[in-house]
Amino acid sequence: MVRAYRIKVPKLKKRRRMEEEDLDNREDAGNEAVGDQRKAEEPVDEMPGIPAIPSTDMSKKAGVIFILDKAPLEIGKVGKKHQLLNSDDHANFLKKQNRDPAEYRPDIVHQALLAILDSPLTKAGRLQALYIRTTRQALVEVKPYVRIPRTFRRFCGLMVQLLEKQKITAVGKREKLLALIKNPVTNHLPVNSQKIGLSYSSDKVVLMHDYVAAASDDVSLVFVVGAMAHGVIDKGHIDDFISISHYPLSAACCISRICNALEQRWKIL
Ligand SMILES: C[S@@+](CC[C@H](N)C(=O)[O-])C[C@H]1O[C@@H](n2cnc3c(N)ncnc32)[C@H](O)[C@@H]1O
Repeated sequence: MVRAYRIKVPKLKKRRRMEEEDLDNREDAGNEAVGDQRKAEEPVDEMPGIPAIPSTDMSKKAGVIFILDKAPLEIGKVGKKHQLLNSDDHANFLKKQNRDPAEYRPDIVHQALLAILDSPLTKAGRLQALYIRTTRQALVEVKPYVRIPRTFRRFCGLMVQLLEKQKITAVGKREKLLALIKNPVTNHLPVNSQKIGLSYSSDKVVLMHDYVAAASDDVSLVFVVGAMAHGVIDKGHIDDFISISHYPLSAACCISRICNALEQRWKIL
């Protein structure tokens, strides 16, 4: 047998009382809203020394730009294949062409790139841009979120592809992750950038932490680090030329020092 059910409706007297209470509550709420409006119209006392509008746009965080200079990225036809020339694999080939194998060190570029891209600074989104200027005056733009091959052999393969095709695009997309772009690099830098060249040969020796701590967040810091075995970076358009140690360091070690100093400054753990 199906049992009938009914909705419980309060008795008439009780219903009226409930309606009256509801009306009172609504009036109280209305009074509160008016009170809020009055409060909003009253002038707000500003605390002395605290600006009402922040003077800088905090949503746009300061970043850093790296330029790897004099990078020995050169391809040669060794046998039937085009290869990235390097001192380990192509010493005889280079000597036969009266070229110094010691100058062919793309491994320095590989290590420098990994030092930049692996840093917490980059992971925190503070790498604004990254450029490579090769010994042959080619200019490469590397997107900050690209994943560079971790093994040297695969890195060489990628560089051959880049130099031949002028670009490397993301799988299934048109976006260029690495691309040859037009010189000079200064055309691609922000107007308010300060270009800092690094060399062991500079007389101005600085403590990296103090140096970046003193820099203004309103300027984009551009660090030019040599990606070659010997020689000095191109000093053209450099605003400051500094040494960061009493010892000659590798490019990757210099980059780690720069990243570390900026991570401390921007409290990136
Ligand atoms: C393998 S080193 C090249 C050596 C080159 N003789 C020189 O000191 O410039 C690669 C790069 O690391 C940077 N570097 C090395 N030692 C440095 C130092 N003590 N201070 C600043 N930069 C340094 C320079 O940018 C240099 O071009």
